[in-house]
Amino acid sequence: MPLKFVLLMLLSSFIPSLARRHPPMEIMVPMSDGVELHTRIFFPRSENDGEGKFPVVLDRSPYGYGDMEEFMNLFLPFGFVSIGQDMRGTEKSEGNWNMFIDDASDSLDMGNWITEQDWSNGEVYTFGMSADGMGSIQTIENAPSWLKGQYVGWAPSRMYNVLFPHGAYKQKTTEDWVSDLDMTDESWLPTLLQTIHENENHSDEFWGQVEMNDEKLNNVNFPNAIWAGWYDIFQAETLALFDGYNEKLKETKLVVDPCGHCLEAQSFWTQDVVYGRTGLALAQAFEVFGIMDLKRTNIKNITYYVMSSNDTAGTEAGQYWSTTEEWPELAPTSYYLHADGTASTEGKNEVEASEESTTYAYDPSNPVPTVGGNNLPHSIGGSIPCGPLDQSEVDDRDDVLVFETEPQKDALYLTGPLLADLFVSSDAVDTDFSVKISDVYPTGEVLIISDQTFRMRWRENKDEPDMIVNGTVYNININIWNTSYAVAPGHALRFTVSSSNFPRFSVNPNNGLLLADPVYPGKNVTAMNTLYHSSDHQSRFILPVVKKPKRVRVLKELESLGITETMIETFKTRLK
Ligand SMILES: *[C@@H]1O[C@H](CO)[C@@H](O)[C@H](O)[C@H]1NC(C)=O
Ligand SMILES: *[C@@H]1O[C@H](CO)[C@@H](O)[C@H](O)[C@H]1NC(C)=O
Ligand SMILES: *[C@@H]1O[C@H](CO)[C@@H](O)[C@H](O)[C@H]1NC(C)=O
Ligand SMILES: *[C@@H]1O[C@H](CO)[C@@H](O)[C@H](O)[C@H]1NC(C)=O
Ligand SMILES: *[C@@H]1O[C@H](CO)[C@@H](O)[C@H](O)[C@H]1NC(C)=O
Ligand SMILES: *[C@@H]1O[C@H](CO)[C@@H](O)[C@H](O)[C@H]1NC(C)=O
Repeated sequence: MPLKFVLLMLLSSFIPSLARRHPPMEIMVPMSDGVELHTRIFFPRSENDGEGKFPVVLDRSPYGYGDMEEFMNLFLPFGFVSIGQDMRGTEKSEGNWNMFIDDASDSLDMGNWITEQDWSNGEVYTFGMSADGMGSIQTIENAPSWLKGQYVGWAPSRMYNVLFPHGAYKQKTTEDWVSDLDMTDESWLPTLLQTIHENENHSDEFWGQVEMNDEKLNNVNFPNAIWAGWYDIFQAETLALFDGYNEKLKETKLVVDPCGHCLEAQSFWTQDVVYGRTGLALAQAFEVFGIMDLKRTNIKNITYYVMSSNDTAGTEAGQYWSTTEEWPELAPTSYYLHADGTASTEGKNEVEASEESTTYAYDPSNPVPTVGGNNLPHSIGGSIPCGPLDQSEVDDRDDVLVFETEPQKDALYLTGPLLADLFVSSDAVDTDFSVKISDVYPTGEVLIISDQTFRMRWRENKDEPDMIVNGTVYNININIWNTSYAVAPGHALRFTVSSSNFPRFSVNPNNGLLLADPVYPGKNVTAMNTLYHSSDHQSRFILPVVKKPKRVRVLKELESLGITETMIETFKTRLK
């Protein structure tokens, strides 16, 4: 659509003389099982009063009106009917909320209802951020023919991997999130949490109901775009959603900003983050809904922020947007962890004589505290501070093993997956291994880039737990999610290994009890945990080294599209 037309449409929304053909509606829409869902419908202002038939943009939410549902009104000037619906069991809808298990059939019922209305032109687009997005992606399961496009932000492809990455329970985030939902019946909460605890194993029977798989993803045959954030609670699984959605048509558009849900970290990146992330999300949503064409800009399919440190070296090396058709080619580079506390790309020499392993005591009653990272912060319904915060104090503890590289001479660019390949043992029947990658500033600050925890009893990813054997050496591979990060000159990388990160992850009492066990957590057992460095057990981190990603002037591109400050402000306030 030409810019002139876009501006005209925008303008028309502020002209009161163009009356709405239909007044807004607030109704209960019955689902096929008889449960009625509370629904608000807003109609576009239309000059040709009479036969108006419109496409619909639908946002189904468990947070009630006034959050993202209301944001849908931004599409009214473009001739869309805007519909916000409360998911079952939330705000004013009937039924019980059930972890998105009902959203495939509820969205099907809703879309079928919409397309039967005389104001519908038969086309439905979905918009959904976070929980709204997690519900909206369920729509693809039934491949409804009316589904013409989807915009999905900050939503995971597989729920289990964000609530229980490597089996380690993200207890606080899960509890904060579930309590933040706008439940019709609050007494449903304990049942919901009990269900989550009972499913700490990755059983297909339960999690498979809401997880994306090849069969569901094969139904993605419409324009779509996805928004992820490097410090987001769902990061890697939103990137996996991109991979899944992009698989068939190769047309999915993606933005990866530094924050996602982690709004508190916005001020950390001084260059273009706020305008860029909201403007890009809007531009891509408009493109998916056929309102805008990004082809004439330099904005390519994948647009991501190259993060760096919040100092002069960092703003020179990184802190900019890059845009590309495909992820940059990466060289997986091993950083070996040596017994003397160094980390280097050189492995251990066979004849070198030094410590073979390091042992530390992990006492569950005194866990390593969480300081930042990919958490759900206060500003968005959680309670754990998020983003790149300073680890120097926690890294000083006796139960945190620290390994550090030499400072970089030149900037080191990383874009892609971060991995740990560790050799470990324990004298307990079960324990956790927690890893973290940080940027060490010349000033001595140590800011977290990413972390993850691995719960040994779920190492085989089977339905039943496998306890461990005292002294047996296990090789574990930890997916520490992804990043795009420039390690600036003068900065070093720090890798740590410990056994807790609380309250980000539940504390493992090391006694083998499962979360749903009536006597959980039971007695705390102090574990003697060991990390190996020997030549046949070389523990390492593997980083995605890339050439310097190209910088793009995203703001200029957005301005040329007519993405206005007003639109961005509206979007930002809806994001809280
Ligand atoms: C980028 O998206 C366009 C459609 O908008 C598609 O034609 C193209 O193949 C995509 N590029 C890649 C590398 O997938
Ligand atoms: C980042 O640096 C800027 C400029 O020095 C400063 O204003 C801002 O407070 C810093 N942000 C954080 C989160 O440290
Ligand atoms: C066991 O560890 C948990 C988690 O840190 C703690 O809350 C609890 O107080 C500990 N129990 C004892 C008896 O120390
Ligand atoms: C993120 O990491 C996963 C592997 O854990 C990989 O499949 C995916 O391509 C990565 N995405 C990016 C953007 O690096
Ligand atoms: C683990 O094995 C070591 C070596 O055999 C032994 O000394 C230690 O007592 C065992 N620890 C436990 C908790 O069983
Ligand atoms: C694991 O999954 C199965 C379903 O396959 C379920 O019946 C069982 O209770 C779960 N077990 C645990 C230990 O969580």
